[in-house]
Parts: sequence; C-alpha cells; structure tokens
Amino acid sequence: MFIIRPFQSKDMFAVIKLASQLLTEEYSPTLFTYFYETSPWSFFVAEEHHKIIGFGIGIQQTTETARIVMIGTDETYQNRGIGSAVLYHLLYAFVQRNISFVELEVKTTNNQAIQFYEKHQFKILDTIPDFYQNGESAYIMRRRCFPHKGD
Ligand SMILES: CC(C)(COP(=O)(O)OP(=O)(O)OC[C@H]1O[C@@H](n2cnc3c(N)ncnc32)[C@H](O)[C@@H]1OP(=O)(O)O)[C@@H](O)C(=O)NCCC(=O)NCCS
Repeated sequence: MFIIRPFQSKDMFAVIKLASQLLTEEYSPTLFTYFYETSPWSFFVAEEHHKIIGFGIGIQQTTETARIVMIGTDETYQNRGIGSAVLYHLLYAFVQRNISFVELEVKTTNNQAIQFYEKHQFKILDTIPDFYQNGESAYIMRRRCFPHKGD
C-alpha cells in the first residue's frame, strides 16, 4: 500500500532519478531544489516500502491560478491510482490556498497523460507550437481546483 506525503530533502535523488526516467525533457537538478524551496506545500511524493514510486510538483502562478509542473509514477506502479492520489493532494493544496484554477502543459503526443488529465476533468484550452526542447507542441489543459456542478 502506498502513501502520499510532502516531499523531504532526503527524497531529492530518488525524485530526480524518477523524473529523468519518466519525462523526456531534461531538467536541471537545481530546478527541483528551487521548487522545494519556493513551494514546499505543493511538492508531494508517493512512497511504498520506503521506495519513492511517484511525485507531483505544483506552483502558484497568480492569485487564482496554479500550475502542475510535473507528475509521474514509476512505470512498474502505474495504473494503481498513484498518479490520481498525487493529483488530489495537489488540488487540495491549491484549494487550501484559495486558488480557483489549475493549468498544465502536456505534449500533444502524450496520450497516456492526456487521458489521465481528461479523466480528471481537465479540458484542452489551447495549443502552443514548438513548446518543448525537441520542437513538439503542448496542449494547455485547465480545470477548476474544486469542481462546480456541471463542469
Ligand atoms: C500520467 C501518469 C502520471 C498517470 O499515473 P498513474 O499512477 O498510472 O495514474 P492512475 O493509476 O491514477 O490513473 C490511471 C489513468 O491514467 C490513464 N492512463 C494510464 N496509462 C495509460 C495508457 N497506457 N494509455 C492511455 N491512458 C493511460 C488512464 O486515464 C487511466 O485511467 P483508466 O484506467 O480509468 O483508463 C503516468 O502515466 C506517468 O507517470 N506518465 C509518464 C510521465 C508523464 O507523462 N507525466 C505527465 C506529464 S508531466
């Protein structure tokens, strides 16, 4: 059984390793330190038997909007609800800060993540051409942090 808990500095190496396995973009290790220092309240890890098997990072963008920067689950542990649990923790952290909306970018070819986000009521808002290091486009997806009836 996994647990979701706030990121701690001892998790840094495991999270960076997981991110490099799961995400095609290259992120500088200092970026993770930056997120931890600026937004410790919206940086979560999933842990099972003392192993980091997932993580999620959010930031506050404006008074009413947050952004999910990264979310990932170790491939061996995918489709067990871990990504959803991390996402709920992020949404709850945003709601606690009175943030109304959450946005993210996802590769237009990343069907796995797009389906995951659509399952969680994110809608495609826009497309940004040439967004990623390899020239791929991104969808901007958005939802209310706390869904209203009819959303
Ligand atoms: C997106 C991701 C975080 C989901 O994590 P997870 O722990 O598997 O998520 P959950 O088990 O909570 O949710 C499973 C849902 O994800 C989607 N999904 C998972 N694998 C999928 C696949 N191979 N194809 C399509 N959709 C898939 C489905 O919507 C699925 O729900 P369903 O079983 O009802 O169809 C995970 O796939 C991942 O780490 N992907 C690589 C990193 C990434 O692309 N992150 C997002 C961009 S930052």
